[in-house]
Amino acid sequence: MVKLRIGYPEDPDYQERLEEFEARIARGEKIEPGDWMPAEYRRQLIRMISQHAHSEWVGMLPEGAWIPRAPSLRRKLILLAKVQDEAGHGQYLYHAAETLGVTREEMVEALLSGKAKYSNIFNYPTLTWADVGIIGWLVDGMAIKNQTMLAQCSYGPYSRAMVRICAEETFHHKQGKEAVLLYAKGSPKQRRMVQDALNRWWWPTLMMAGPHDTDSPHTPLLLRWGIKTKTNDQIRQEFLDEHVPELLEAGLVPPDPELRYDEKTGHWVHGPIPWDEFWKVINGEGPMNRHRLLARQRAHEEGRWVREALEAYSKRRLAQAAD
Ligand code: ACO
Repeated sequence: MVKLRIGYPEDPDYQERLEEFEARIARGEKIEPGDWMPAEYRRQLIRMISQHAHSEWVGMLPEGAWIPRAPSLRRKLILLAKVQDEAGHGQYLYHAAETLGVTREEMVEALLSGKAKYSNIFNYPTLTWADVGIIGWLVDGMAIKNQTMLAQCSYGPYSRAMVRICAEETFHHKQGKEAVLLYAKGSPKQRRMVQDALNRWWWPTLMMAGPHDTDSPHTPLLLRWGIKTKTNDQIRQEFLDEHVPELLEAGLVPPDPELRYDEKTGHWVHGPIPWDEFWKVINGEGPMNRHRLLARQRAHEEGRWVREALEAYSKRRLAQAAD
């Protein structure tokens, strides 16, 4: 990683620069790649954006498994487009992270060696076709709540990538909701299938927003520097308030016996989230972690010849241009 000296606390003008940097954020200005920024701002962004990029790439796997088994040509086309979008999102995000001085190779190496984190949600298996609908409606629904917040973030390249990603995620969300509502009104077998998918994806989806604010070490600094503009619990609450009434209306019941509507606050309240499971999953011990990592490692190996061919082609073009 490029070590940019400027912005490190030993800089004699650090305090003054920090104040100006924070004043720019308070005025709603975007911080751009060549601008002064504290080293910790850069580090936090690289951490978050690279984890996000890895999530998009690993996120292609659970649904990608259903492309050959989609129940109709229409559903297959939708799913193909969606999985292809995720690959594109990964590209925008890796590019956004590269503007901070980390290389693509370093990020990919961190993912393939198992050092890097990616979203907990992609470490669960997709057992039936209904999982594809539930992922679109709920998992992408949670992702949109998080990502519309990040579209407001203070770092220009991340914020702009998010605007585009959110537009595409909205399509993912709609197609998932359409599929789930159809099965919820369908045959008893379809209703059972979609309720079972909801039962399995509900808690992992709530965990996606991250630990409670009281257990989230990064949130205070991320809020101070406008990287996040809402906390994990605020995002989770927005998700619940939008999705619970719609699920109930469709005759689907989230698997939480303590879920209730609080008349006083006007918000839905969930029961205890199984956080032990979350920490296990994000530390590599989820049901599909090893499988996901193996699949990415294999794809990387199988794509080696393409990268080598591109590099050779680019060298030849440069040599020709120099003649
Ligand atoms: N999955 C995996 N790890 C998580 C998750 C999650 N859902 N939530 C939190 N964590 C990790 C954090 O990365 C952090 O670990 P680290 O210190 O090793 O990096 C630790 O748990 C503590 O969490 P927080 O302090 O709450 O972390 P943070 O303030 O960064 O908030 C969040 C977590 C909300 C995921 C934030 O990083 C974020 O908004 N990231 C960008 C969005 C993103 O990555 N989305 C991926 C899924 S969307 C999709 O691909 C469709």
